Amino acid sequence: MSGTRLVVAGIFVREGRLLMSRRPAGRAWAGLWELPGGKVEEGETPEEALVREWREEMDVTPVAVSPYHFETVDEPAPGGARQNVTLLFYEVGGIVGAPRSVAVDAVRFASAPEARILPTPPGDAATLRRLLAEVEGDAFVDTETEAGRALVREHLSRDPFIENSESLSSLRAIPFRKPCPNGANVVSGLLLATPDGARAYRNVCPHAAIPLDRDGEPLLSADGLFLVCRNHGAVFTPEDGRCVAGPCEGESLTPLDVARSGAGWALDGGGTR
Ligand code: FES
Repeated sequence: MSGTRLVVAGIFVREGRLLMSRRPAGRAWAGLWELPGGKVEEGETPEEALVREWREEMDVTPVAVSPYHFETVDEPAPGGARQNVTLLFYEVGGIVGAPRSVAVDAVRFASAPEARILPTPPGDAATLRRLLAEVEGDAFVDTETEAGRALVREHLSRDPFIENSESLSSLRAIPFRKPCPNGANVVSGLLLATPDGARAYRNVCPHAAIPLDRDGEPLLSADGLFLVCRNHGAVFTPEDGRCVAGPCEGESLTPLDVARSGAGWALDGGGTR
C-alpha cells in the first residue's frame, strides 16, 4: 500500500437533479459517472482544489461549499500496487457559469432513478447511496441555496466577462452591467457584433441620457443593421455608434473597450474611452 491520496468532490443538486461527470478515456475508471472533482495538489486546500478542478473540467466555479462527508477507499495504483484514497465530499450551494464538458467526457444533471443505474467508481458509491437515501420521490435534495445564488450574483457582478457573449450574433445586442476593470464604477453597456468584430457602447442615449432599451424589446432593427433607441427611435450604426437618424442625429454613443475572453467577450482596460 503506497501512502494516501487526497481527493475532493462536489455535490451540486439543482431542481432535484445531481450534477455528474463522466471520466474520460485513458484515465482510471474511464467512462464511469462520478461526483466531479479531483486530486488535491500540494499547497492547496480541498476547497481551492474543488474550485480549480471544476473550472478545469466543466468551466464552472463552485461557491458556498460546505463539508458533507468523507470516504476512504483503497484503489489500484499505477504499477499494480494499491493505495488509500481519502475522498472529501462537499455540498455546493451555487455555480457560476453553465457546466460543459471541458476535461471530462460528458456532464449531466441526473435524476435519482438515472443516478441509481449509472456506473460509478467505487469511491463515489457510498456517498451516492447516502444521497439516494435522502431522495424525495424521484428528486435529490437541492444543495443550491439562496446564499449560493447571492454569491453567484456577487461573483458575476465583479467578473468583467459579459455573460452570454459567447452567443453574440449580428441579430442580437447583449445588454450588460459590469464593474469597470479599473474598479472606478459600474457601467451599463451594450455589446454588438459587426463585420469587424464586437463593439460595445454605454447604454445611454445621447438624446435624453437614458438607456436605449425598454422592457426587453429588441434593440436591433429587424435586419440587424442598426441599433435603435426604444424611447424616441434614434438610429445608430453599430460600427461606430453614430446616430444617423432621430433626435440626436450626428451625435455618438460612448464606446467601451472590450476584449476577447475565451469564446466570449469581457470589459477591458478602463472601460470607457
Ligand atoms: S432617448 Fe433615445 S432617442 Fe430619445
